[in-house]
Amino acid sequence: MNQNKLKEAVGWAAIDFIKPNIIVGIGTGSTVDYFIEALSSIKHRIKGVVSSSAKSTHKLKKFGMNIIDLNDINSLPFYIDSADEIDSARCMIKGGGAALTQEKIIASAADKFICIIDSSKKVSTLGKFPLPIEVIPMARNFVIRELEKIGGNPRYRHKIVTENGNIILDVHNLIISDPVSLERSINCIPGVVTVGIFASRKADIVLISNDNGVETIIT
Ligand code: A5P
Repeated sequence: MNQNKLKEAVGWAAIDFIKPNIIVGIGTGSTVDYFIEALSSIKHRIKGVVSSSAKSTHKLKKFGMNIIDLNDINSLPFYIDSADEIDSARCMIKGGGAALTQEKIIASAADKFICIIDSSKKVSTLGKFPLPIEVIPMARNFVIRELEKIGGNPRYRHKIVTENGNIILDVHNLIISDPVSLERSINCIPGVVTVGIFASRKADIVLISNDNGVETIIT
């Protein structure tokens, strides 16, 4: 099966977790796009959705979904999103689509994070996928120097301005053997808005599609 078919399969499989009358947090990316299509088929059964990006909002609106502001709710049972890489402890790299800050906020506000991936996203150690970091524009060169001190090779993602008006640095050549500690230390660099390591708030449930079907890992 090609990768798009695997993304579609896992996007539709996530529907089984959606109970009636709930609000669902929605991530960003091509896998989530399939989940949005699947969710639209049961849209009358749910209260609405909280979106993590303009791209997802656009698609959700196209399907006539009820979009709810995170500030208007006190709890969120599920956040559904994909990842760029995930390890066996369910820690992830996210941010390939530059929506990592909103993704981390909604994921952290949710009771359960369901990560939907095709099997190519599974890794033994995070870091082969360049680590995205959202940075305040004026701090760019300072943050680059600080990231070089920890052994990374940060590259400025040209022509990308995030929805929060910031820039993205993609850090190459990191071997992330301790995601919790690296997430914490990069978060402490002044000028860093969000690091794309999701380790403090990792996935609770992982759905993985491969040629044999969709495997579910529940903690
Ligand atoms: C978006 O900012 C990312 O965190 C995505 O979740 C990640 O890039 C996965 O995207 P795909 O589903 O397109 O592979």
